[in-house]
Amino acid sequence: MNIDTRQINLKQEASRAAMNFITPYILENNNFLIGVGTGSTVDFFIDELSCFSCSIAGAVASSDRTKSKLSSCGIKVIELNSIDHLPFYVDGADEIDESFCMIKGGGGALTREKIVSSVADKFICIVDESKLVNRLGSFPLPIEVIPMAVNSISRRLTLLGGKVVLRDGFITDNGNVIIDVHNLYIQDQLSLEKEINNFPGVVTNGLFAINRADILILAADEGVQLIHRY
Ligand code: A5P
Repeated sequence: MNIDTRQINLKQEASRAAMNFITPYILENNNFLIGVGTGSTVDFFIDELSCFSCSIAGAVASSDRTKSKLSSCGIKVIELNSIDHLPFYVDGADEIDESFCMIKGGGGALTREKIVSSVADKFICIVDESKLVNRLGSFPLPIEVIPMAVNSISRRLTLLGGKVVLRDGFITDNGNVIIDVHNLYIQDQLSLEKEINNFPGVVTNGLFAINRADILILAADEGVQLIHRY
């Protein structure tokens, strides 16, 4: 099996395990709502969720891509402003560490992912084993930025030790741009998330430490593990 096929299989297994975990909650709640992330792993999860399209009240999407995929699978898309909270938010990650802090935003959907996940009781992160790391930062940290602030924010990020790359030709669902920061030494995830958020013109950064995952579903060759945050 080549590496791509293997990784695809693991993503599917993680998605299936998330669905198995959530199914009892769907069956005991007539008005079940769920928050849905963005990415290739989540696309598999939406395929699983589509089997329950008649049993769930709807889903809140974290991107236009997810909105389209949900609709094409017959799942009703609900606007975040029409609800108070969600029991679960399911999403992938670009990296996750042992304290369940993550780097997200490889697909550029970080801002809406952070917003939707913030109203969920439980953030379920579904990944294949390649995403589990000892220290965050090998994956470049995505930062959504108001276009006029690209240079001023880049200078600040360079002072933090990062190598800044503007994501070429990419515009977010919110009409902004993404700066990917390479080579950052991330020691204190929480402080760095807050510090970068305070740079004028930053919409969101891809560190998810303040609102980290609660449950990790990790698919590896040896099997799938469901781990609750301690
Ligand atoms: C989207 O913006 C990201 O945060 C994704 O959650 C992340 O890139 C994981 O994507 P894959 O499931 O495609 O690896």
